[in-house]
Amino acid sequence: MNVYEAVTSRRAVRGFTGRPVRREVLERVLAAAAWSPSGSNLQPWHVYVLTGAPLAELKRRAGERVASGDPWDEREYPMYPPELKSPYRERRSAFGRERYGALGVGRDDWEARQRAAAANWQCFGAPAALFCYIDGDMGPPQWADVGMYLQTVMLLLREEGLHSCPQMAWSVYRSTVAEVLKPPEGLVLFCGLSIGYEDVTVKHPRTGRAPLGETVTFVGDPARRLQAA
Ligand SMILES: Cc1cc2nc3c(=O)[nH]c(=O)nc-3n(C[C@H](O)[C@H](O)[C@H](O)COP(=O)(O)O)c2cc1C
Repeated sequence: MNVYEAVTSRRAVRGFTGRPVRREVLERVLAAAAWSPSGSNLQPWHVYVLTGAPLAELKRRAGERVASGDPWDEREYPMYPPELKSPYRERRSAFGRERYGALGVGRDDWEARQRAAAANWQCFGAPAALFCYIDGDMGPPQWADVGMYLQTVMLLLREEGLHSCPQMAWSVYRSTVAEVLKPPEGLVLFCGLSIGYEDVTVKHPRTGRAPLGETVTFVGDPARRLQAA
């Protein structure tokens, strides 16, 4: 698989088979992902990998919280700005239409949306999950480092025939995650990453992207400069 194939075949998979993921595969992926870049090589990611009985226990505890309507933990970071302006607002709405439309859930059916979202806390059936923390005193550049690291993990997983789903949703049950993982004081849970083999019977609409011109500005004429070189 070349890098373009890894990038374009990666997507947020929300349905996994129970087929276990071998420990040595995860170690190979994470050892390679350690070569991700970070400002001044801080490598600000703190990663916990959960499989087997501890993951089952986390899913059980999270499932209990969901079932009892237990309120979410206080946020440690805002997932989105409080007022999303254009064009982000429209992109979020389009995503919601795609994601929940595929499940046959209507725009205003809050309960059905919540039921669908609850699958997050079962890792969409995945037999492995990674939880990524960052020190609470790190700033936006280090959070960006962590994002690059996670994308590297996700691309390497593709090479191994695996899929993944990054999940900020886990941050709302961060105290439950902490009960199982027991991270040191001062770490903030950024997200979980469910990992496994795709359940191909689950319908997956491909999430679209904005046209290149909306997000990329070329300044100068790279094609002509290339020819001259
Ligand atoms: C940091 C981050 C957090 C995310 N959190 C969730 C989540 O909690 N639950 C979920 O189902 N998808 C989550 N996603 C997946 C996004 O919805 C998805 O990446 C986006 O819609 C683009 O679709 P694609 O990844 O399938 O191309 C997250 C993605 C990122 C990068």
